[in-house]
Amino acid sequence: MKKFTDVSDIGLLDLAVKEALEVKNNRFGYKGLGRDKTLLMIFFNNSLRTRLSTQKAAMNLGMNVIVLDVNQGAWKLETERGVIMDGDKSEHLLEAIPVMGSFCDVIGVRSFASLESKEDDYNEKVLSQFIKYSGKPVFSMEAATGHPLQAFADIITIEEHKTKARPKVVLTWAPHPRALPQAVPNSFAQWTVAAGYDVVVANPEGYDLDPRFTAGATVVHNQDEALSDADFVYAKNWSAYDDPGYGKILSRDPSWTVTADKMALTDDAFFMHCLPVRRNVIVTDDVIEGPRSLVIPEAANREISAQVVLKRILESGMP
Ligand code: CP
Repeated sequence: MKKFTDVSDIGLLDLAVKEALEVKNNRFGYKGLGRDKTLLMIFFNNSLRTRLSTQKAAMNLGMNVIVLDVNQGAWKLETERGVIMDGDKSEHLLEAIPVMGSFCDVIGVRSFASLESKEDDYNEKVLSQFIKYSGKPVFSMEAATGHPLQAFADIITIEEHKTKARPKVVLTWAPHPRALPQAVPNSFAQWTVAAGYDVVVANPEGYDLDPRFTAGATVVHNQDEALSDADFVYAKNWSAYDDPGYGKILSRDPSWTVTADKMALTDDAFFMHCLPVRRNVIVTDDVIEGPRSLVIPEAANREISAQVVLKRILESGMP
């Protein structure tokens, strides 16, 4: 594997899940793979889980790890080509990327959507430049349009808990005070469809996701209808995708918060969220703390999804 930015990079999902479960039972069994190899993790945005889980996964594989928070201590980066750089940005991404590449063997990048330009975001303006100019295998630690490490961990978690061959998995929009990217729901929809689940996406009118990511899922605008007989409920907020409201908040409707009454409509479903989550806005305390909440094992599986991805990159040989 030379890059990991999309579900298509992982190959057959059932094989990837099988490998994940093997890795989970033997996470230190591949320590020689990463010997004398360095992972550089670059964060343009904040993180708790991705930072810790990916570093832990790399350490399990025997890798050295360097973490760079671009906004804390590095030169402010210009990303536009052709700009006269007489402002506050001291370095251009076009120099910074190959320099970063010269100090590592693998690069993980976190760069969220700006939510200002749909074109830039959906062209993955930052991540694509790392792929093009670093000369090293690059994987997404959440980019503008997708969070594949999260979706892979979500699939592992569903596979560990499902009791039906084809569970009903509901991705539901929930309210949030800030405009959030579509990366997590895009990937969750795409990966769960690829896994062969019965996938329903529920969101208010105006919040339909990019159909390239929801192809194969049923999209509805009635949350109660979607939740009926659900086996897994995955709550997430996202801002509008469609123009002219791209990146905007169109609704803060509290009736979309996932409550115990909402969960009672399901077939005793498990509750999932990628975290961090705003309690009593996205989901009530009783649901997230309840016996069917998977948020902690789901987060713990981030170590496993990252380790499988790094393992495959290391196994494919370095440039
Ligand atoms: N779920 C997730 O990616 O968490 P962080 O933003 O804390 O990394």
